[in-house]
Amino acid sequence: MSVKLLREGGPAARIAVIPGDGIGKEVTPESIKAIRSVLESARRQIEFVEFDWGADKFLREGVTLPSGAVEMLANEFDAILFGALGDPRVPSNQHAADILLGLRFKLDLFVNARPVELFHDRLTPLRDRSTNDVRFMVFRENTEGLYVGVGGFFKKDTADEIAVQEDVNSRKGVERIIRHAFDYARRNQLKRVCMSDKSNAMTFAHDLWQRVFKQLRQEYPEIESRHLYIDTLAMEVVRDPRQFDVIVTCNLFGDIISDLGAQLAGGLGLAPSGNIHPGRTSLFEPVHGSAPNIAGKGIANPLGSILTAGMMLDFLGWKSEGEILRRAVRSALQENFVTPDLGGDKGTAEVGDWIAARVGDR
Ligand code: NAD
Ligand code: IPM
Ligand code: MN
Repeated sequence: MSVKLLREGGPAARIAVIPGDGIGKEVTPESIKAIRSVLESARRQIEFVEFDWGADKFLREGVTLPSGAVEMLANEFDAILFGALGDPRVPSNQHAADILLGLRFKLDLFVNARPVELFHDRLTPLRDRSTNDVRFMVFRENTEGLYVGVGGFFKKDTADEIAVQEDVNSRKGVERIIRHAFDYARRNQLKRVCMSDKSNAMTFAHDLWQRVFKQLRQEYPEIESRHLYIDTLAMEVVRDPRQFDVIVTCNLFGDIISDLGAQLAGGLGLAPSGNIHPGRTSLFEPVHGSAPNIAGKGIANPLGSILTAGMMLDFLGWKSEGEILRRAVRSALQENFVTPDLGGDKGTAEVGDWIAARVGDR
């Protein structure tokens, strides 16, 4: 199949859509509405192709990531818009590991970019903090660390059982994510980069992070570079988030600190992310999961997914359209046109319709 992708100078962007499970299926259509609306008024073309990969398909057919899927996505799509995976009927989380982690690893999406930005003062649980105080980017290493699945059981299901999970860190892997963080800071005139690890306890894996960081920071003398252990970082982002512009850390710590950051800026319902390999097919998803506790009720907040769509448009080179989506989200928050997680009484589709109308009406 020959397709003219946007990144190859083609006329339109081709987007694979994987809504997934639970509220992923509810919020993703709202993002698509918003994207269609903003691009229509900008006269840009986009094509969406939906894939039903998730718990239902896994339970029905035993298929998680279909064979050939990775190559198809890499060759035929500019980006992937993803909802969430996770279903109480699949306690092993096998399908999520195969699909989500599988795509992160196999597409080599080494940057997990998770911006933390407070859009309205009333949304932060921190006392006396305002929108200018909570604004930083978390870069989470996304292809290595404790997520690679190297390990095993010994004497499983006996009283003597041993479980091992290896933390795998390569010099190339550590170097490319730390370099990405510094380059991002330089490009955006941000003054500070903080690398966080646990090198006082993880004396091999994180010693590598220390050595690579010390070497790379010399190439960015204009940037104030700093190291904090992850436990201290967790404390400091709460005590005074103004200290941070860019945070770079390993896969697991990035997972945790990005949920903490999300809460400082209004909660998981508002947090976007991009799983990126610059120049290649990349995957965009809200930070939140499938939220089985509210799935099917039509009350999930779609704004995290819509901000995620904004990141995807930026990635496609359509920054002004991405900015229009962010402005519309800011207006919805200002006017309190929001779902119950933010104290409102609106439904998922109501908020989605409001945003779509707003971004189309210019
Ligand atoms: P979760 O993010 O699904 O939910 C945590 C809490 O935040 C819940 O109370 C939920 O109702 C609330 N919440 C999350 N998103 C919201 C939204 N858009 N609007 C309103 N409220 C929202 O995390 P969890 O409960 O720990 O995990 C549920 C499932 O999702 C698990 O199977 C987990 O593995 C999976 N998960 C998947 C992803 C992903 O696909 N990227 C991310 C995190 C968790
Ligand atoms: C996330 C999620 C995933 C992760 C899970 C579902 C494996 O929590 O995207 O933050 O830990 O990366
Ligand atoms: Mn997470």
